[in-house]
Amino acid sequence: MTDSIDTPMTDITLPTEKLTRFHATTAKLEASLTKPQVNSNGHLRHFLGVEGLSREQLIAIIAKAETFFDSNGQLINCPELEGCTVMNLFFEPSTRTRTTFEVAEKRLGANVLNIDIARSSTKKGESLRDMLWNLQAMTADIFVVRHPASGAAHFMATEVTPNIAIINGGDGWHAHPTQGMLDMLTIHRSAARPFAELSVAIIGDIKHSRVARSDINALQTLGVKDIRVIAPRTLLPKGIERFGVRVFEDIDAGVLDCDVLIGLRIQNERIGSPLMAGSSEYYKSYGITPERVAKAKPDVLVMHPGPMNRGVEIASSVADGEHSVILNQVNNGIAIRMAVLSMAMQGQREFRRQPSH
Ligand code: CP
Repeated sequence: MTDSIDTPMTDITLPTEKLTRFHATTAKLEASLTKPQVNSNGHLRHFLGVEGLSREQLIAIIAKAETFFDSNGQLINCPELEGCTVMNLFFEPSTRTRTTFEVAEKRLGANVLNIDIARSSTKKGESLRDMLWNLQAMTADIFVVRHPASGAAHFMATEVTPNIAIINGGDGWHAHPTQGMLDMLTIHRSAARPFAELSVAIIGDIKHSRVARSDINALQTLGVKDIRVIAPRTLLPKGIERFGVRVFEDIDAGVLDCDVLIGLRIQNERIGSPLMAGSSEYYKSYGITPERVAKAKPDVLVMHPGPMNRGVEIASSVADGEHSVILNQVNNGIAIRMAVLSMAMQGQREFRRQPSH
């Protein structure tokens, strides 16, 4: 299945093929993604993807997120976006990303508008381009966007609304950079060892997962040397070995001595035809069970971006168990989203002040 732009949004063409295929993530594409998301000072002015950003830039995001916790580990309010208008445009369902963005925006003191896509004029045939230009005229400063088409956020940032900070809340199979960074913050805060010493396994539907792509990019940039992907062949993107990850089709071998296990949901909505046996077969072969957790390090962290299918990719007792940091991920998501919103707005202000602009 290739993901295409929805029919009412007729006048945009996205580099979908380029961006959905793992092996197409070339240096050239990385450069094209990096360029629009930083200003001439190297500061973020959009947040479109993790790929192409440096270790220092990722550490700066983590460090900024840390400033939003008080000494008791509680999130604080910080009015860094006072007077700014943030519009949330979710073209796909979401619980965690949408809500934590809204919480983050309000904690930063922004004016927040949640655009109801289902009741918008896109349903009357208005193009995405026209919709965005109209919202821009309503004095938006930041768009947070989730879209089924890979490349949608990049398209908005480069071709439609470059003067507005675009934050990618997940685009097709391509990227979910704030999820990637909240996963890194969670590992940073909870793991017993530094990134360079960790063994991290990502288990499940790697092929259709934007989270897997952002996690692998971020883990590599932060210096993790042992990244494993565990899945049946049908759920692995072709050529993934070239990304410096170790591939395991046998989960019991793959989880051995791991510091972090990241479970992924089977993306049924993105799978055109059955790629594997039924749920109970999948659980038997690839479920994160207590027995498999016991094969990892004694202080292993169990993570999952959600939504979870309990009893399919993860046992309930593991999801709610002593190793699970799944709800910490959600809480950390607020701090990471506060960080990228604040940094991108600052970078966008600098960009707007440039004489050539
Ligand atoms: N992790 C994640 O993206 O969850 P939602 O789809 O609920 O936002």
